[in-house]
Amino acid sequence: MHLSNKQLKEFLEDFFGEEYRDFIEWSFSLSPLRPSIRVNTLKVTVEEVKERLENQGFILSPVEGIPFAFRVEFYPFEIGRTLEHYLGYIYVQEVSSMLPPIILAPEPGERVLDISAAPGSKTTLLSQLMENRGIVVANDVDVARTSALASNIDRLGCINVIVTQYDGAIFGKKYPEYFDRVLIDAPCSAIGTIYKNREVARWWSWKNVQKLVRTQRRLIESGFKALKPGGRMVYSTCTITPHENEFVVEYLLENFPNARVIPFDLQFKNKLDSKGHGRIIWYGDMEPFYIALIEKSA
Ligand SMILES: C[S@@+](CC[C@H](N)C(=O)[O-])C[C@H]1O[C@@H](n2cnc3c(N)ncnc32)[C@H](O)[C@@H]1O
Repeated sequence: MHLSNKQLKEFLEDFFGEEYRDFIEWSFSLSPLRPSIRVNTLKVTVEEVKERLENQGFILSPVEGIPFAFRVEFYPFEIGRTLEHYLGYIYVQEVSSMLPPIILAPEPGERVLDISAAPGSKTTLLSQLMENRGIVVANDVDVARTSALASNIDRLGCINVIVTQYDGAIFGKKYPEYFDRVLIDAPCSAIGTIYKNREVARWWSWKNVQKLVRTQRRLIESGFKALKPGGRMVYSTCTITPHENEFVVEYLLENFPNARVIPFDLQFKNKLDSKGHGRIIWYGDMEPFYIALIEKSA
């Protein structure tokens, strides 16, 4: 596969070095990933969903370290068209996209902010981890995406979620030191999703990255201000450019001496290492994701 976007090609060659070919082949192969699902334990048990889907001919395999997640090894028809999906028993979600909420680890009863939440794959997992107790403020600036967010929250039966539609930059000013946990799943240049969104390879440019960096900085700063002392925040993206990842976290650390990056464990063997703060996750059988866990000192 030849990448005609010169800027993107140069960046990827530089970033991956010897693994560049592997990444391109992975991104442009017909189906690099098996679909994966998360069982919504707010509504149903893992065993019940497994049995219901297996009875319809689906073959599921467990995901190491995530007891409510499965990879779909075989599907007689699309898993998103099952009754279990419509009933909100499952969410079709990439395994690496489950990790930011799991690493943030909200507790039942806490106040949590999901600053750019639509369409809600991570919001609904936060609510699940909180056993529907406490509160999740799920915000997104985009009106159409916010309605998809509301309908997913409804489908999954998450009753501890409020949906708001603001520029996420307001939270730091309006709700300083209010939240126990904050998730910034930032808008990004989405290189990790080229395998399913081919247009990323056409659209990607340093100019667009720069625009995104401005938003990412505003969101990470706002989220950090909205965090209580002693609270934790996750910054994540589905891209790999250091400008949108490690450098955004560095910007926060330079401006807020009470911010620190803390390590977290991963149960998977990783193919890539981050060159700075946080971690880039890419295993070949997962979508690449960047994740940093940040704490505000008390
Ligand atoms: C990566 S997507 C979020 C995906 C979502 N967290 C999920 O897991 O389903 C990034 C989101 O950021 C939103 N966004 C972009 N700029 C924003 C801003 N200034 N304030 C709040 N949300 C913003 C976009 O509308 C988009 O829905």
